[in-house]
Amino acid sequence: MPEKVFIFDTTLRDGEQSPGCSMNLAEKLEMARQLDRLGVDILEAGFPIASQGDFDAVRAIGAEIRRPIVAALARASELDIKRAWEALDGAERPRIHTFLATSDIHLKYKLRKTREEILKQISFAVGLAKSHCQDVEFSPEDAGRTDRNYLIECCHVAVEAGATTLNLPDTVGYCMEPEYERMFADIKSGVPGMDRVILSTHTHDDLGLAVANTLAGIRGGARQVECTINGIGERAGNAALEEICMAIYVRRDVLPLFTTIRSEELYPSSQMLTRLTGMAVQRNKAIVGLNAFAHEAGIHQDGVLKSAITYEIITPQTVGMASNQIVLGKHSGRHALAKRYEDLGYQLNKPELESAYVQFCRLADRKKNIYDEDLIAIVREGFKDIPEMFTLKLFQTVSSSDGRATATLELEKDGEVFHDSATADGPCDAAFRAVDRITGVPGTIMDFSVHTVGPGTDGVAEVIIRARFEGREFSGKSTSHNVVEAAARAYLTAANKAVYELKRVAVSAGSTRGSVHENEIVDRLFPGGY
Ligand code: KIV
Ligand code: ZN
Repeated sequence: MPEKVFIFDTTLRDGEQSPGCSMNLAEKLEMARQLDRLGVDILEAGFPIASQGDFDAVRAIGAEIRRPIVAALARASELDIKRAWEALDGAERPRIHTFLATSDIHLKYKLRKTREEILKQISFAVGLAKSHCQDVEFSPEDAGRTDRNYLIECCHVAVEAGATTLNLPDTVGYCMEPEYERMFADIKSGVPGMDRVILSTHTHDDLGLAVANTLAGIRGGARQVECTINGIGERAGNAALEEICMAIYVRRDVLPLFTTIRSEELYPSSQMLTRLTGMAVQRNKAIVGLNAFAHEAGIHQDGVLKSAITYEIITPQTVGMASNQIVLGKHSGRHALAKRYEDLGYQLNKPELESAYVQFCRLADRKKNIYDEDLIAIVREGFKDIPEMFTLKLFQTVSSSDGRATATLELEKDGEVFHDSATADGPCDAAFRAVDRITGVPGTIMDFSVHTVGPGTDGVAEVIIRARFEGREFSGKSTSHNVVEAAARAYLTAANKAVYELKRVAVSAGSTRGSVHENEIVDRLFPGGY
């Protein structure tokens, strides 16, 4: 019978306390709601004594989030535990998580205490926490470097004092998998009363072993794992929740375990955290990175197009991503190229495809990213000849301190002037939405980069945008002293290409080729025919 592994999320505590990841109260609440949707079992909401912000966050999350256990961290001291308990007032299922370092290194250099003093402090702190709360977790900090017999003693004292969860942290990310696994087995067999206690992993990624060690801990008997979304956390980070959960799910043949995480919420959770912290995920990050389901090599593309199982062990939909991506680059083959042309509405015969492929290879040798517009340019005369459909006549934005902004735009097409405005979170987005309202072809930003050209504050901003319109991707580039204007112009360039291409598809098929929706757009944009 498979056993459940409980997911203890510490994104809002160990994750949030790492550089560049801080969040305000509203952001923490938004993230906590998402973690609830994701299905975490325990949500560590903060370290109340550390700051008023942490206290308020634990209190607000405890008051609102009812299903998961809400945990608050406290050092093994009266003040900390009192503060944690105050913050948890109102929580439906509160947990006090108290910790104290147990390794000789920490005792000698940080705490300057003897082993006996530490044992007494554990007993006092866990006992005090228990007098407030039934659910008490104890962590012997730096367990990974703690003398094993002494660690057994510390855990024994904690269990005697009422701890219901024992968390064994590899605080500095030092352990190798067999060592970490062994530690769990030793505690399980060496501490009396372990049948009433859940063992928990808590690993850091200093040697890139956090997830591997978590799985080792599970093999050693842990049934709770502490982890964070995107693996954010102190220094190199904590074990990544999405990697652990998917490893347990995908390899359930060798790990007779399960979690109750809703895997389709993994990618949305990752995206939300990136948006709230501004901490981007590396492209090749497992499970949630942009490249996690992207294929460029020709052999892989051919395989995936025939059957995704050839090169994918998880479907992107399982983790909440829309689809896999066939990325065209210098390693791609004819098959993927033909498929993309088909998707773009071009039926190429064999010689046409061959000629397009030769030009594509030449281009891919020079250019890192190949966009739809490059492919389209290959099979027709090229975008340099595109007449500007809409030209920017007037541009104005108004921003407020709460982040909302309104953009007003005047665009001209064939002598007619169109005027519209839109409101959004930020002036660039407002400008993009105003363009969309006028052209009627809404786009989604896929990539947005800004560079300064020229020295100091005199430099101009160069904005490059890649956006998706009606299933096709187009790019635009513009420079201006005003970064928002540069962004609006770059977006308009991409939108103009999209409008032109929609028209081309309609023309080539006598208006029957595009989808009903595309034809409607074309009819509206070119009412007099084309
Ligand atoms: O890494 C660590 O030891 C911790 C403890 C507070 C659990 O984060
Ligand atoms: Zn930690």
